[in-house]
Amino acid sequence: MFRRMRTAKDFFAPLAVGAPAPVREIPARPSRAIHFFDPGNPKMAAKVPDMVGTVDVLLGNLEDAVKAENKEISREGLVKIGQSVDFGPTQFWTRINSLDSPWVLDDLTTLVPAIGDKLDVIMVPKVQGAEDIHYVDRLLAQLEAKAGITKPILIHAILETARGVANVEEICGASPRMQGISLGPADLAADRRMKTTRVGGGHPGYLVRQDAAPLAEGGYDFEGARTIYQQDLWHYTMGRMVDACAMHGIYAYYGPFGDIKDTVACEDQFRNAFLMGCVGAWSLHPVQIKIANKVFSPSVEDVKHARRVIAAMGDGTGAVMLDGKMEDDASVKQCKVMVDLAEELAA
Ligand code: GLV
Ligand code: MG
Repeated sequence: MFRRMRTAKDFFAPLAVGAPAPVREIPARPSRAIHFFDPGNPKMAAKVPDMVGTVDVLLGNLEDAVKAENKEISREGLVKIGQSVDFGPTQFWTRINSLDSPWVLDDLTTLVPAIGDKLDVIMVPKVQGAEDIHYVDRLLAQLEAKAGITKPILIHAILETARGVANVEEICGASPRMQGISLGPADLAADRRMKTTRVGGGHPGYLVRQDAAPLAEGGYDFEGARTIYQQDLWHYTMGRMVDACAMHGIYAYYGPFGDIKDTVACEDQFRNAFLMGCVGAWSLHPVQIKIANKVFSPSVEDVKHARRVIAAMGDGTGAVMLDGKMEDDASVKQCKVMVDLAEELAA
């Protein structure tokens, strides 16, 4: 799924002098649902082996939602899981603690030597600017070199501070390890002083109302019935994030949707993200895995239509009319996005 295939040569050279840089293509791997679990919670940890193959990404969370007194237990739990579970086709990620916390250094120095060969991606929360990515990148390079790990661990940043949003382009381009970015609506809302206490999703107060109807006697019926259109609180940030990710050839993700019971609104929010260019979202409960897998896979009808347009356009240049609609070089490119995604997910 990477728009630009990268090899290990793109990564910072290992610190070990004279070691030849291994050539390795990062394979296209789907990541529609990033399923969070607490590795320190025995019930959740026990379910991990059975979830392999049922979800694109399993992420052991060490940051928020893990109590301060349990940080070490969760880290140890993650090491055990990483050492004992064969993840097969499922990617294995972790979310480390934030760079201003007392736990992050131990997270990295423990996890990389112990399970760095198993970890595909490290999610870094509350990223403020390129300097945060440079720090993690260099530390990973040192720890990988020391542990003899040749497969570079990738980095995923969460966009959840106003400063992070302001610097999103430089964050995406800060290292060849950058795999993608997720929106972190809860922390971002707090940092921006937004007045919502929800974890992602919409808000009934964020709306526009249809114009008031004119009255026969003049003036307008401001009290009369009017259609309300609820707006998407996250549209601006999603747009910035998707553009920055596309510019640097990495992936954009919607983050968490906290209202587990409202599967309908969750699906709507995920679909908006898919339509805008995201490849996946977080799952906080198994029910959200199903939603993400469905929403972030192009529909059979859309893929069928896209193939028809591509076939009708021959060498992909010029213009044709299909079902009364104009198709040209640009619409072929749009259709190829859909077909490529369908093929990558089927592979
Ligand atoms: C996720 O970490 C969020 O803050 O929404
Ligand atoms: Mg957060």
